[in-house]
Amino acid sequence: MITSTLSHTIQSALRDGTEQLMAVTDTPQLEAQLLLGHILDASRTWLLTWSDKPLETADFTAYQAAIARRATGEPLPYILGSWEFFGVDFIVSEHTLIPRPETELLVEAALDYTTAQDRQLTLVDIGTGTGCIGLSIAANTKNTRVTLVDICPNALEVAEQNARNQNVFVTLRQADLLDGLGMFDVICSNPPYVAPAEMADLAVSKFEPHLALDGGSNRGLDVIERLLDQAVAHLNPSGLLLVEFGSSQGAAIRDLAVAAFPNATVEIIQDYAGLDRLLRVTLP
Ligand SMILES: C[S@@+](CC[C@H](N)C(=O)[O-])C[C@H]1O[C@@H](n2cnc3c(N)ncnc32)[C@H](O)[C@@H]1O
Repeated sequence: MITSTLSHTIQSALRDGTEQLMAVTDTPQLEAQLLLGHILDASRTWLLTWSDKPLETADFTAYQAAIARRATGEPLPYILGSWEFFGVDFIVSEHTLIPRPETELLVEAALDYTTAQDRQLTLVDIGTGTGCIGLSIAANTKNTRVTLVDICPNALEVAEQNARNQNVFVTLRQADLLDGLGMFDVICSNPPYVAPAEMADLAVSKFEPHLALDGGSNRGLDVIERLLDQAVAHLNPSGLLLVEFGSSQGAAIRDLAVAAFPNATVEIIQDYAGLDRLLRVTLP
């Protein structure tokens, strides 16, 4: 526990903070540095170069508060207020999921498709959260008009802020999956897919929004099943559907997709850890 604000240098604050974070993370030193760097608006190199410098009381108090939050298990990105995805910093809030590295696979699969087409395309990102999927695609294609959709208005506000910060032009819509929306060449989604039995064991479910995680009582597949049923009427010929799912759901997802799209090519793609992660449906 850090008790006094007297004579705390960068070095001693980092040492104390590192000790306090040992119980919650494998990288306590790095995280203490990131938190202090965030508060001082300084790089880790600067902190190490100026480690003898005394800390202002206000900065030390803010650092103590940040360390205390992290020590409760609150994820680092919520305390920092942003997290990197596809090489870009995205604002995150308690209303949004923290972007995960495995979701970059979906963005890559979408870009493989959009960049191979020499025509104008429309794409929708369902359950956009921070906007990380749709904005990363929009920023890396010239021929694709992107719509970001979420049922949660607070999440949409974060997506809008990210779009503005990144100078990326997109349309934002509040909707329940594809309800009330038109036709698209590409439908992308990282929907909620955690099964109720797993929710209680999931450390992040204490901090990340249940609306972003809870996939419903049928093994966490309710939202995905509804999305696949709706997508049949919203995907243009030659269109592409990409849906991220949980690593144990591959076989069930394939069955659902084949039933919904009997004439399409249905593929299950593994992530870089070799786990089933992504459904790709390509229409004839
Ligand atoms: C797993 S998070 C994905 C967030 C973001 N796309 C990402 O990959 O980090 C699922 C998102 O779907 C939204 N959502 C949940 N149910 C929805 C529904 N019925 N219609 C639209 N969005 C929904 C949640 O608010 C949440 O932002």
